[in-house]
Amino acid sequence: MKHCHEFEDWARPHEGTQPNRAYYIPFAPEQDPVQAPRETSDRFVLLNGTWQMKLYDSISAVPEDFYQPEFAGLDFMEMPVPSCWQTQGLDQNQYSNVRYPIPYDPPFVPHQNPCGAYRTRFTVEQAMLGGRVYLNFEGVDNFFYVWLNGHRVGYSQVSHSTSEFDITPYLTEGENLLAVLVLKWSVGTYLECQDKFRMSGIFRDVYLLARPERHIRDFGVRTWGCEDYTRAVIQVGVAWSGGEGELEWELLDPQGSPVCRGRAAGEFTIHLEQPRFWTAETPHLYQLLLRTGQEVICQPVGVRDITVKGRQVLLNGRPLRLKGVNRHDSDPVTGFTISYQQALKDLALMKQHNVNAIRSSHYPNAPWFVQMCERYGFYLIDEADVECHGVTEVFGGGDETTFGLIAQQKEFAPLILDRVQRCIIRDKNSPAVLIWSLGNESGYGPGFEEAGRWGRDYDPTRLMHYEGSWHQTGGHVNDTSMLDLYSRMYNEPDFVRQWLENPANTKPFLLVEYCHAMGNGPGDLEDYETLFLEQPGILGGFVWEWCDHAIDGGTTADGRRKFLYGGDSGEFPHDINFCVDGLVSPDRIPHTGLKELKNVWRPVRARWLGDDIELRSTLDFVDVSQLAEYRWELQLDGVVVERGEGTLPALPPRGTARMALPCPLPHQPGRVDLRLIYLARTGSDFVQAGEELGFDQLTLRQAQRQAPAPKPGRLTVEETDAEIRVSGETFAYVLDRFTGCFKSLVWNGAQRLAGPMGFNVWRAPTDNDRKIRRVWEQAGYDRAQVRVAGCQVLEGEETAIRCELVFAASIRQPFLRCTALWRLDAAGTITLELDGVRDEAFPFLPRFGLRIKLPAGFEQLDYTGYGPQESYLDKKNACWFGRFTGTVSGEYVDYIKPQEHGSHMGCQQLRLSCADAALWAAGQQPFSFRASHYPQEALAAAAHNFELQKSDQVELCLDYKNSGIGSNSCGPVLADRYALIEPRFHMQLSFGFTSVD
Ligand code: GAL
Repeated sequence: MKHCHEFEDWARPHEGTQPNRAYYIPFAPEQDPVQAPRETSDRFVLLNGTWQMKLYDSISAVPEDFYQPEFAGLDFMEMPVPSCWQTQGLDQNQYSNVRYPIPYDPPFVPHQNPCGAYRTRFTVEQAMLGGRVYLNFEGVDNFFYVWLNGHRVGYSQVSHSTSEFDITPYLTEGENLLAVLVLKWSVGTYLECQDKFRMSGIFRDVYLLARPERHIRDFGVRTWGCEDYTRAVIQVGVAWSGGEGELEWELLDPQGSPVCRGRAAGEFTIHLEQPRFWTAETPHLYQLLLRTGQEVICQPVGVRDITVKGRQVLLNGRPLRLKGVNRHDSDPVTGFTISYQQALKDLALMKQHNVNAIRSSHYPNAPWFVQMCERYGFYLIDEADVECHGVTEVFGGGDETTFGLIAQQKEFAPLILDRVQRCIIRDKNSPAVLIWSLGNESGYGPGFEEAGRWGRDYDPTRLMHYEGSWHQTGGHVNDTSMLDLYSRMYNEPDFVRQWLENPANTKPFLLVEYCHAMGNGPGDLEDYETLFLEQPGILGGFVWEWCDHAIDGGTTADGRRKFLYGGDSGEFPHDINFCVDGLVSPDRIPHTGLKELKNVWRPVRARWLGDDIELRSTLDFVDVSQLAEYRWELQLDGVVVERGEGTLPALPPRGTARMALPCPLPHQPGRVDLRLIYLARTGSDFVQAGEELGFDQLTLRQAQRQAPAPKPGRLTVEETDAEIRVSGETFAYVLDRFTGCFKSLVWNGAQRLAGPMGFNVWRAPTDNDRKIRRVWEQAGYDRAQVRVAGCQVLEGEETAIRCELVFAASIRQPFLRCTALWRLDAAGTITLELDGVRDEAFPFLPRFGLRIKLPAGFEQLDYTGYGPQESYLDKKNACWFGRFTGTVSGEYVDYIKPQEHGSHMGCQQLRLSCADAALWAAGQQPFSFRASHYPQEALAAAAHNFELQKSDQVELCLDYKNSGIGSNSCGPVLADRYALIEPRFHMQLSFGFTSVD
């Protein structure tokens, strides 16, 4: 097709589209539209299905007449609509974060521009004609032309928004041919540089709406609470098409009983006494019916208002806290195309993990998704389909200089406004939307200021936010007066505290992204929660992000699922696995980070005050005691010795209450812990009665750990230049003088090591280690060698060997010096007492400890420490201190990009058994361990989980400390208190073998 260049025209983004309006589906007057699926409407014709499609590599290759009914299109393939054509094997998968995949040359795009020519036929019956028929596209990426029966209907863009065309003039009774040409790149591409796989096609529903000649075109519903929220006002304004008409309205209460009714033409107001307010905790929905005689429209109404008082955001007059996640439409098989069932799965998981808010990053979701949020109770930040992050990558550019390139270019201003209007006007009637977002990471300038002013003016009933507004570039003086919140991303808690301390900062603070959930992590959820709980000026935050993005790569020969990320499809540019950064896997299996999040966001928190328990509600609207009851477990040294259940005292929103201990403390010595496990009292949409909502563990008594008394008896010691052999009745051990560690442990006649033991400072870097990893590698931690500067058998009662150890890597000076004292007793127990001194010029250590390779068979695991899932110094809130049993295989955590996983911190004892023996370890101080069939080198070397080969052997790390996890893949650096950064440390640990019963 020649002479088609509208996709590069920034002056006319759409042709033939209807003015924006609120989302609704009209029904026939005799139908009951309340909560009815839209497919059941007589006025709704879904055109989804199998269409004909051919992908051309540029628009000039598309046949001139492809949209004509007579066009043969013999080589067209079958294409499901909706879908993304990349998921159907066409074009190329490409994951790019910040960088534009095309040259930065707006409004132009490359001539090589994949174009999908789509054709479908549908039949129209006489009954549909006579009024007006509208064709709706809910999402097409990126730019598309539409023809009906050979007539050009128009074109549109803005991928994640609805485009509606009036096709009445071109429609005929009987068969009709709809042709759509979708272009991958257009001027809109410059505004859609979101961090995601770049996919194309008609990816959301396509449908017809048959309407009478005169019909309601648009309407707005606003609500307010008044007189101390004992009353509320619902205000409705209606706009008509085809001439003003009259309507009958009726309001049903949340149970479906009529409340009031009336007649109106344009505007009307409803006054409610003792209304039931909508919140995410209480998603009460009234239903407003608008009847015109020829149609009925049903609009769910959540009565609520949102205001700002000082730096506090109030919902229905009460302080509000957002516990949010950033969610993309993403699925490994269906790409951007998300069905109702897929969305429901996400929402169910979110509810089950105490999430109350979603940011639709970074574009509006399907309109029915917004309705799901109002129905099931989620607050929404609804974000316009705008991101221009790639402007920071122009040659010579950067965040500080070119971030405002598009935001400040006047030709783009109407396009930004268009995108903001499409978002706000479509979703303006949803109570779930509390906050509008002008977009993401696009710098700042007049384009956003104008859009923000428009939005503020158009909808004074919600808050306006845009994180990019703090970027000052190009000499532009930012006007942020239309923004209600001060939004930032990834700042460390102390930054937020300092900001709040400054009285000149008057807006509520919002962390629109924080706690980057990439790989093993995030490790800082609880630290942020502490901040949120202590500071009323913070509205809350949205964890980045809900799901890992990946492409389905089939399965391996042994049945393991393959998920592919950036670079796996040979694309350029790409950003490797930076898209695999969610709380759930691509197929929605919760990661350990989500479990951590769930407990950090538990509805109630308990504190041991020494004689009783203080409970604190973290809910904003409901008394926790109505929602939850509890079970309790009393543990002595990690073992449950008593259990019971109870009901919670009355606990008003954000309030506190006291509760007595459910039972007396045991008399026996030892550590005593009480676990309170909160359970749902009644079932709700996604949470069943009795399901766990979270827990607290209160340590009621600490205990000193005693070192096991050494077993007396004579040992034989033989020394050579290379080895020290120590043997007793049941064992013969060999210490290597050149490593300072044991290379052979024969116990009860069998070799118990699969290789020499060693000291270990390295770990398979986590995604959150990706920055510090480079520093670690410069320091040489990944290739550290141990030089034994001295090694001698000590004279005395007991058998002991002292080694002086120097840790250094090729090129570098030593970073650590240790004195290790190995003490051995007649039972073959080895006690290591080690003192380490770090050179403080070096970065913190990943970990420090012993690495022991055990032969096949050491599979059964029993430990007392933080479990049952992996636990780290800063990621242990889904864990509790207790005694756990399991298997080494069960310790594997399946990260798509393999990395350190499965460690357990705060341990007192560990036992790993095979058929005839068990290795045990006990610490005089809490230690961390990791038992795995995947050595750290194998994990570090693999790019994907499906490349890993499980070893029969077991790698056991017994660590003085394993540094915390943090969220530095995008967030702040790991806090010192979680890092192995201390200049001196002491480790004491005993281990040995015992027979199994
Ligand atoms: C933010 C951005 C997100 C995502 C995240 C890193 O800067 O808004 O879209 O890229 O970083 O995963």
